[in-house]
Amino acid sequence: MTNQTKQVVINSPLDMHLHFREGAMAQTVIPLTSHAFAGGVIMPNLVPVVDNLERLTGYLQEIKTNVGQDVFEPYMTVFFKNYTYQELEQLKPYILGVKLYPAGVTTNSENGVAALNHAEATIKYLEELEIPLLVHGETHGFVMDREKLFLPIFEHLAQKFPQLKIIMEHITTAEAISLLDRYENIYATVTLHHLIITLDDLAGGLLRPHLFCKPIPKRPEDRAALLDAAIKAHPKLMFGSDSAPHPLDKKEACGCAAGIFTAPIALQALVELFDRHQAIANLQAFVSDHAQRIYGIQPPQKSVTLVATPFKVPSMYGTVTPMFANQEISWSIARIDTAISCSL
Ligand code: NCD
Ligand code: ZN
Repeated sequence: MTNQTKQVVINSPLDMHLHFREGAMAQTVIPLTSHAFAGGVIMPNLVPVVDNLERLTGYLQEIKTNVGQDVFEPYMTVFFKNYTYQELEQLKPYILGVKLYPAGVTTNSENGVAALNHAEATIKYLEELEIPLLVHGETHGFVMDREKLFLPIFEHLAQKFPQLKIIMEHITTAEAISLLDRYENIYATVTLHHLIITLDDLAGGLLRPHLFCKPIPKRPEDRAALLDAAIKAHPKLMFGSDSAPHPLDKKEACGCAAGIFTAPIALQALVELFDRHQAIANLQAFVSDHAQRIYGIQPPQKSVTLVATPFKVPSMYGTVTPMFANQEISWSIARIDTAISCSL
């Protein structure tokens, strides 16, 4: 088989953490994900945040409009606050989980949780209602240590709420991987970019604002641990791109916004990465099957065929610069097949 004929088929790829935004930005970015993925977990850190049923259903409608004819399931989340049991009961049919941000750790998280002990009544309700808790696990410590410093909080939550499904979002450290093996009820997502870059790529030479994100990319040994777990299809690790678009003037600015835009290149670059590590056989589990099992979801049927034909990444999508802008990825999407539902 020549390289030109090599192909990979992924069934119902899922992106378990991403930012769709609203308005013109949503119009630009949503179709890029809904084209290639069968579903995605949509983050609620809008302005104002998504934290009630009315805001949630309005946002869902905007997403569906932008998804158009694509076969794509948006799995919604709400922003953590002190909800009553009744509010959560009402929200449950519409959401996959509740996303907890410590106050002020990342984009639009100012109204996040300031003191975790005041949040525990709501966390108990989540456990009782079997609603997963998704967590941005960073403290306000030294930037390279923020995730590591948060890990004892994950341990505390895992012990105190043993029936609660806890997802460590966008993990970046070797220590976080080791937590997966120590607590039955802890799971994680990892991004594409944290499997590829370290702090060196962001700040080791000229500063690369389009590679600036939270949590900050870490050390080579962290990246190695994350990559090892991903390519070996660690059963508690799921793909979540954390694609987080910001307009060019917010990135190439004095005070660069955190977030890397990977939606249009994520699947192609994942295939390239897994292929480079002779791990294509494990990609299906990492990018779909684990998430289906962990969350108990059945995404729409959609098979995406990628071929080893180079994809030249555009410099911009609307006002946003993607990761690998103007570079080539050695795989591209060749076709997408969906189960056509037929109503008589
Ligand atoms: C995200 C954003 O821009 O909304 N930014 C980021 O750097 N990842 C927020 C987040 O997920 O932390
Ligand atoms: Zn995010």
